[in-house]
Amino acid sequence: MPTRVFHWSLAILVLLAWVTSEAEGALFWTHLATGYGVMGLVVFRLAWGVAGTRHARFSDFLYPWSVVRTHMKEMLQPAPARFLGHTPAGGWMIVILLAVLAVLVASGLFAGDEGEKGPLAHIAGAGLADGLGEVHEILNTLLWSLIAVHVAAVLFVSFSTKDNLIRAMWTGRKKNLANLNETVAEDIPPVGALRVAASVAFGIAAVVAVLW
Ligand code: HEM
Ligand code: HEM
Repeated sequence: MPTRVFHWSLAILVLLAWVTSEAEGALFWTHLATGYGVMGLVVFRLAWGVAGTRHARFSDFLYPWSVVRTHMKEMLQPAPARFLGHTPAGGWMIVILLAVLAVLVASGLFAGDEGEKGPLAHIAGAGLADGLGEVHEILNTLLWSLIAVHVAAVLFVSFSTKDNLIRAMWTGRKKNLANLNETVAEDIPPVGALRVAASVAFGIAAVVAVLW
């Protein structure tokens, strides 16, 4: 559940951060606010990737290259191997998306010229802050290119494996490919409230630290 809430909140906030990025003057706080939201979510996900439930952990879905390659080849065949957690290719895309988001957020914090400024732009100094504004925009383009690949890959894998990943990312369940009428749910222990709270606290603490 926390992973799924994270995902759809992230998608919405990234979209809002982009929509508000053109805001000027008094309205620029909307871009900073949505940016802080993205930042909190990314920090939460890093903590949740270590302390979270089985399929949320990085150790669960980061497969060696040999597995990723076999999985990608198998996708064109009738019965590809099943993965109850993230798929091997999807797993590495998660790391790439989180890394780009982290650097995008970090550059935004220190970015800005005479116009709109990030909250830490004074630390970077005028010249560097200006350059980081450029970096921020380039990373934004990179992010949306990756999101396009991400969504296209999700659609492709859903089609080729007959396993609707979008529904799985919404319900937390996958269909049993041996019998498409059955839904597979693992015997996963209930989400530990303390672990969720600790991970959420990390996300909030990061935002509070920057605001402070
Ligand atoms: C997913 C998150 C984000 C996205 C997609 C995003 C996207 C963008 C884009 C596209 C621009 C360029 C707008 C333009 O002039 O055409 C921009 C500018 C800016 N963003 Fe972000 N941003 C994000 C997060 C953040 C964060 C976390 C901060 C800081 C707290 C931030 C601070 C800024 C600043 C200060 C500028 C103006 C830079 C300048 O004029 O040189 N952004 N952002
Ligand atoms: C701003 C847009 C988006 C971003 C930044 C984004 C980012 C991510 C991230 C970080 C994950 C890993 C989830 C986790 O374990 O924490 C993920 C997984 C996933 N996302 Fe997105 N996503 C976006 C849009 C979408 C959209 C529009 C769809 C639906 C078409 C989608 C479908 C999925 C699916 C199905 C997975 C699981 C993939 C797998 O199990 O291999 N995402 N996404």
